[in-house]
Amino acid sequence: MMRESGLSAAELDQFRRDGYLVVPDLVSRDTCASLVERARNLVDALDPSVVSIFSTQEQTRTSDDHFLGSGDKVRFFFEEEAFLPDGSLRQAKADSINKIGHALHSQDPVFEPFSTQRSFLAIISSLGQKKPALVQSMYIFKNPHIGGDVACHQDATFLYTEPTSVLGLWFALEDATLDNGCLWALPGGHHEPLRKRFVRNSGGSGTSFLPLDPQPLPPVTTAAPWVPLEAKAGTLVVLHGLLPHFSCANRSPRSRHAYSLHYVDDACRYPTDNWLQRN
Ligand code: FE2
Repeated sequence: MMRESGLSAAELDQFRRDGYLVVPDLVSRDTCASLVERARNLVDALDPSVVSIFSTQEQTRTSDDHFLGSGDKVRFFFEEEAFLPDGSLRQAKADSINKIGHALHSQDPVFEPFSTQRSFLAIISSLGQKKPALVQSMYIFKNPHIGGDVACHQDATFLYTEPTSVLGLWFALEDATLDNGCLWALPGGHHEPLRKRFVRNSGGSGTSFLPLDPQPLPPVTTAAPWVPLEAKAGTLVVLHGLLPHFSCANRSPRSRHAYSLHYVDDACRYPTDNWLQRN
């Protein structure tokens, strides 16, 4: 479905009320399948020596460098439970990956044209961004049995601007259900303040969280007022940067592949200590 003029007035009303919007059938099944296939091929081609980097004793520092340098690269991140104590993979490489980040949108010949299509920009513009900048992408595998949970967070913690501007487009490439770890959102939660921001430590390596508002995020339950966002493959979920959301671990036999894009408004200030450095 093309969205050359962005979201409708009714959709915008819904988004402003809830902080999220679910748009079924935005991406064709064929396109979903081609993106899933591309991600599988990228993992197949992954050099096994990269795997060993993650199982050395220097894991923390190496992980920091691997993460902090990923803003303009295609890098692979493993599930926490992927490795045995001796550093070898517990299961097949393809079933051990957590995500690919954070620049498929600019570095990959299949994901780049998908990510930069005009209709996505039109959606972001219709939500009020004056100078939309696509700054980050993630391919999320949520593999069978091992796919980890994502703790409750606000996306603006990780893509902070003044004022807050980040918007997320989250695409279900496979059906996301209660069983395989669909998103959960707190309707209206985007009206609350940003709790913290994630920054590079000054002068040294590593990262930390800077507290902004002492009020904790609402307690997580898989019950009201939280809402599960079950989504068939091809569904777009639009997420406000302040909306608290999370997803559960996938203990089911079915994967839950998804792809997300994050945009900030370049009319807003982008601090230089944000973890994601921009060129
Ligand atoms: Fe998120």
